[in-house]
Parts: sequence; structure tokens; C-alpha cells
Amino acid sequence: MQIIDFPKPKMHLFVCINQRDKDNPKPSCAPRITADMVNQLKIWIREQGLTTTVYCTKAQCLGFCNAEGSVAVIYPEGTFVNGIQNLDDLKKLIKERV
Ligand code: FES
Repeated sequence: MQIIDFPKPKMHLFVCINQRDKDNPKPSCAPRITADMVNQLKIWIREQGLTTTVYCTKAQCLGFCNAEGSVAVIYPEGTFVNGIQNLDDLKKLIKERV
């Protein structure tokens, strides 16, 4: 095992795309935010020239599930955000921080 020598990003966004079964009474972040949307976000990040500045990773449940919106966590500050409605909200989170 060894440390990977790589430039540290300014921001690493983990986006919950968890989708529970229809029978599960607990809310989930998908289909409001999906794996395909996160892939689109990664393309947008590349188009903005932010490939080495912003990392974006799909995540499963981050533990703050709610019916009002999807959840993401932003590092390095470790800020959890809920109420995410769509791809534009994710772009806004990035624009506010870079
Ligand atoms: S399902 Fe997304 S935070 Fe739990």
C-alpha cells in the first residue's frame, strides 16, 4: 500500500443516488438525483475546466434521507446539504465554492 501523489482537489462532492424499493417507507434521493445526472455533472465539470479542482463521486445513503430533496456532502469542510432538486442545484453548489 502507498500514498498516491496527486494534486488535491479544492472540493470533493459526494452525491447520494440511493434508491430504495417502492415498498420501503423511507424516502430516498433517487430518482430525483440519479447516477446518470452525476455522470452529466462530471461532464459539466470537465467542460468548466475544473477536472483537477472538483471531484464528484456517487454515494449511497448518506444518512439524512428526507422527502424534500436529495443529499450531498462536500469535503474538505464536511458540509452536508439537503433539499437538492436537480442537476442545476448540484452545479450551483460547485459554482458557489470554486
Ligand atoms: S437515501 Fe440519500 S441520504 Fe439516505
